[in-house]
Amino acid sequence: MNIAILGTGGVGQAFATRLQGLGHDIMLGTREVQSTKTRLADFISKNPEVKFGTFTEAAAFGELVIHVSKGATAVEVIKSAGEKNLRGKVLIDITNPLDFSKGMPPSLIPELSNTNSLGEETQRLLPNTKVVKTLNTMWNGLMINPSLINNGDHVNYICGNDADAKNTVKKFLNELGWKNESLLDLGDITAARATEATLPIWLRVYGAKQSGAFNFKIVS
Ligand SMILES: NC(=O)c1ccc[n+]([C@@H]2O[C@H](COP(=O)([O-])OP(=O)(O)OC[C@H]3O[C@@H](n4cnc5c(N)ncnc54)[C@H](OP(=O)(O)O)[C@@H]3O)[C@@H](O)[C@H]2O)c1
Repeated sequence: MNIAILGTGGVGQAFATRLQGLGHDIMLGTREVQSTKTRLADFISKNPEVKFGTFTEAAAFGELVIHVSKGATAVEVIKSAGEKNLRGKVLIDITNPLDFSKGMPPSLIPELSNTNSLGEETQRLLPNTKVVKTLNTMWNGLMINPSLINNGDHVNYICGNDADAKNTVKKFLNELGWKNESLLDLGDITAARATEATLPIWLRVYGAKQSGAFNFKIVS
């Protein structure tokens, strides 16, 4: 399948490597292709088949689109990807609305938290796209390889307005190694308010453990 990854940071690179390895065709979306290719020369030497395009070109390329750009400018990236290029598609939103401007740990951006979220903002901008929020509550090493810890037994939330799109994303998550019993459907896209609000506690646990290789698990 043609998969677009909007974002070229650590998460975008991790997904590109993993998904290319699973046999998908990948295009990484970025602001400026040539400077990004120069910056990612080492990644490209290890992943020569991964394509690069602008956010607009990648959005048009993808049958499935994964959004992993910086939260503070994620809305701009969606706008430059273009509503018409994303129409009718499933968009997996992994972004978090974090403000790093005052140092570590970052805080949630007020306009995008509590009574709003990046998941909802994205769905509002893309009324004809099926936005599914998932995987944003953990370190990227676990997103693409959940069995790295506790035999894969830890929680991954999923939310979105379209039931079929969530089923499509669950199958995609299975491909990455997620077991169905680890996937917790929290309902519509407003649940992104809660999952994005996991980040303040996630960041404190990360600070205490000095490692991202942990996750939360729901017991009852
Ligand atoms: N790191 C993790 O393990 C982790 C875990 C959970 C969720 N997340 C979320 O995943 C997302 C990606 O995180 P990351 O650490 O891989 O990378 P990041 O540094 O947060 O984002 C890198 C991407 O953001 C784009 N970007 C930066 N400034 C921009 C601007 N002013 N306008 C438009 N685009 C801009 C960059 O574009 P260029 O390609 O043009 O440089 C690049 O593609 C974030 O929302 C983060 O909260 C990360």
